Amino acid sequence: MLSQYYKKDFKILNKTENDMRLVYLDNAATTQKPDVVLDAVSRYYTKDNANPHRGVYELAMRATDVHEKARSVIAAFLNAERDEEIIFTRNATEALNLAAYSYGLANLKKGDEIAVAVSEHHSNLVPWQRVAEITGAEVVYLYPDEHGEYSEAELRSKIGKSTKILAMAHVSNVLGIENPVKLASRLVHQNGGIAVIDCAQSIAHMKVDVRDIDADFAAFSGHKIYAPMGIGVLYGKYALLDSMPPFLSGGDMISHVHESGTSYAKPPRKFEAGTCNLGAEAGLVEAIRYVEAIGFDKIREHETALGELAVKGLNDLGGIDIYPSVSGKARNLISFNIRGVHPHDAATIMDSYGVCVRAGHHCAEPLMERLGIGSCLRASFAIYNDDEDVDVFLHSVEQSRRVMGIGS
Ligand SMILES: Cc1ncc(COP(=O)(O)O)c(C=O)c1O
Repeated sequence: MLSQYYKKDFKILNKTENDMRLVYLDNAATTQKPDVVLDAVSRYYTKDNANPHRGVYELAMRATDVHEKARSVIAAFLNAERDEEIIFTRNATEALNLAAYSYGLANLKKGDEIAVAVSEHHSNLVPWQRVAEITGAEVVYLYPDEHGEYSEAELRSKIGKSTKILAMAHVSNVLGIENPVKLASRLVHQNGGIAVIDCAQSIAHMKVDVRDIDADFAAFSGHKIYAPMGIGVLYGKYALLDSMPPFLSGGDMISHVHESGTSYAKPPRKFEAGTCNLGAEAGLVEAIRYVEAIGFDKIREHETALGELAVKGLNDLGGIDIYPSVSGKARNLISFNIRGVHPHDAATIMDSYGVCVRAGHHCAEPLMERLGIGSCLRASFAIYNDDEDVDVFLHSVEQSRRVMGIGS
């Protein structure tokens, strides 16, 4: 089993929690970091640290090299056409805000529509609501069916001549299944709009090829793919980036500044105001190497097998509502409720078995409203999880019910 080889690479997984083996199943929130990533960050700060682009001395040139090589590695990883299509941000949220404020404010007007999947994480929903408020454009929501899927009919009925922007996650952080982003991109392009794809939940679990899905913008956070927190990426098609005004302004993003005004650098620097997080970039490069060495086919097969095992176990327990209630779909995360037990109570009890799961609305309140629930539990798997983790997880679910006086 894959995890036998990889668990040892993550120091934190070899410690105990409440004197129990740590069963970390909150990977959709953030992943743990392997030693190679931590070493890369440390190596950067002990050998190459300086402010990039600003110094002519050897050390500063090495730092610039780290920064630009990271851009190149990420461009290749996403199959971008050019390195200049990769913009470093703090996280996916900042990347999506950059697209919304810079592209959206410059291109939307009253009468235009922004098609937003209702299952979006707030990061790919609230910025569009804000930009709609400012420009007078309208947000039109796409709704999934009872299987959690966006049907072609739904896409065709909502994406039309007025749609200027489509905002959709590659994989929902609650439903866990792949969205039809390729079809949605094609439809929005046919109508002259652009596609903004949130890859935060796909990036560590399946190949993200921005040209294959034909995203105009794609965003992800490094911390969801075994890299440090504080680094995110916005991919954007170069012609679009070149046509857009800056988002944040200040140092490093200018060409010339005069009392009378400022001219801007070309992308990507136009969108990278201030000092970037080079240590985290170095970590992200190593994280990408790490997952590529394993391979996405293996990763997907392993995580899907764990997901299916967990779904089967929950169904066997009975009294569990799973969202969506279908199995047989590739997914590394499962959202569910234990009937009669509040998710926060369940998560607290599960923690006493060393099991870390997320409870709440998962930053997807409009989806929760559609599902008719206030909150739910979410267990999400990564390469280092194994069958034993699923067993402990299922046992902890059972115990939550027992402690709360539900069932036999
Ligand atoms: C689908 C999705 N998009 C965006 C985000 C936001 O990521 P971050 O908080 O790293 O910006 C998350 C985080 O959970 C997510 O799951």
